[in-house]
Amino acid sequence: MRVLVVGGGGREHAIIKAVKKNTSVEKIYALPGNGGIADDAECVAIGAKEIDKIVEFAVDNKIDYAIVAPDDPLVLGAVDALNEKGIPCFGPDKKAAIIEGSKVFSKNLMKKYGIPTAEYETFNNANDAIEYLKSLKTFPRVVKADGLALGKGVIIAETLQDSIDAVNSMMEDKVFGKSGENIVIEEFLTGPEVSVLAFTDGKTVKPMVSSMDHKRAGDNDTGLNTGGMGTIAPNPYYTDDIASICMKEIFLPTIDAMNKEGRTFKGCLYFGLMLTPNGPKVIEYNCRFGDPETQVVLPLLKTDLLTVMQAVTEERLNEIEVEFSTDSACCVIMASKGYPSAYQKGFEMTIPNSIKDTVFVAGAKLVDGKLLTDGGRVLGATQIAKDLKTAIDGAYDLVKQIKFDNAYYRTDIGQRALKATEEN
Ligand code: AMP
Ligand code: GLY
Repeated sequence: MRVLVVGGGGREHAIIKAVKKNTSVEKIYALPGNGGIADDAECVAIGAKEIDKIVEFAVDNKIDYAIVAPDDPLVLGAVDALNEKGIPCFGPDKKAAIIEGSKVFSKNLMKKYGIPTAEYETFNNANDAIEYLKSLKTFPRVVKADGLALGKGVIIAETLQDSIDAVNSMMEDKVFGKSGENIVIEEFLTGPEVSVLAFTDGKTVKPMVSSMDHKRAGDNDTGLNTGGMGTIAPNPYYTDDIASICMKEIFLPTIDAMNKEGRTFKGCLYFGLMLTPNGPKVIEYNCRFGDPETQVVLPLLKTDLLTVMQAVTEERLNEIEVEFSTDSACCVIMASKGYPSAYQKGFEMTIPNSIKDTVFVAGAKLVDGKLLTDGGRVLGATQIAKDLKTAIDGAYDLVKQIKFDNAYYRTDIGQRALKATEEN
């Protein structure tokens, strides 16, 4: 099989390493991939949003199966365009990807079908939003841009003034462009967060092992929000009881709701959950694998990934077992110092060959045979072990073996989960 993977981050590297294990795979192309992914796939300089070029490449290169991993191409309709040329894909079509592409859509979906989520109002102009904020007695409130915003479109506003500033930045200053033309203002929820990625073919839903992201840049959850600085799996807060509540109240109703709306979702549906004192609630949906959740979830997958993906495409997910290891995993992200604000790049990296299997490169390029840093998040190092503590220690051992100037990483990935495990 000739497989094409759209995207070029750590998530895509993890997907490619898993797909490579399938012995029927003869060739993997990554569009655009990156300097580290080049060890495992042929990287082609076509951007993930260049849908026409992706389709042309897939046709010219007789691609048998395409995996569209990032949100942007999914929301832009990459799967529809590839399917039109007869190329089977993993990922939702444009109609279904709206579940991530528009927060107004996803909030209204949850309200209509009784899926638990934060209380909210939606607005299409700043005046109405500000009048509403002035009527509120309690803060913080959460202000969200409707559309995709590189994970930055969510502002937790501590005060009335902060929330007015957030509305103005999105709707008047248009810091997120068109993505901020509509906004959602919602109730601030509290509780541990859990990421659950689930395979679904629109009929059956098979959740993967749960995980926990660490979104803030600094230790002890301080500093700016990032794309994610590390992950652990499984998430100790996500007990079997909570999992069955989520299946009944969230996962199945969501699949059902999308079908009823004529937007059947096929692919990986990401449930960003908060375990509030009033039960699990949906913080957000993503129409794709999470990054860096994928870097702990896929290494624990025992079933062949490509086999599962094809079962999703062919709507026979009910026919296969999707099995996960009972081990724990920890992924520590090494970033460029300064990320998510300004940072320098272009520093030479060394990753020992002996650990390359478990390093997922996110931001690097090859120049004259040398691997140079080329992004905010540079790579993730994942360790699997029988227990969480050993996995965490192992991941930090890997980090110590990887060298590049200006490297920065959090030193407390997994500590909160470890505490929760010890308290149980
Ligand atoms: P999102 O990009 O939607 O995942 O939001 C980013 C982060 O903002 C989430 O991981 C939460 O930590 C936080 N967040 C989003 N919505 C809420 C909410 N309603 N209450 C509290 N925190 C929230
Ligand atoms: N790690 C969060 C995301 O992928 O959106």
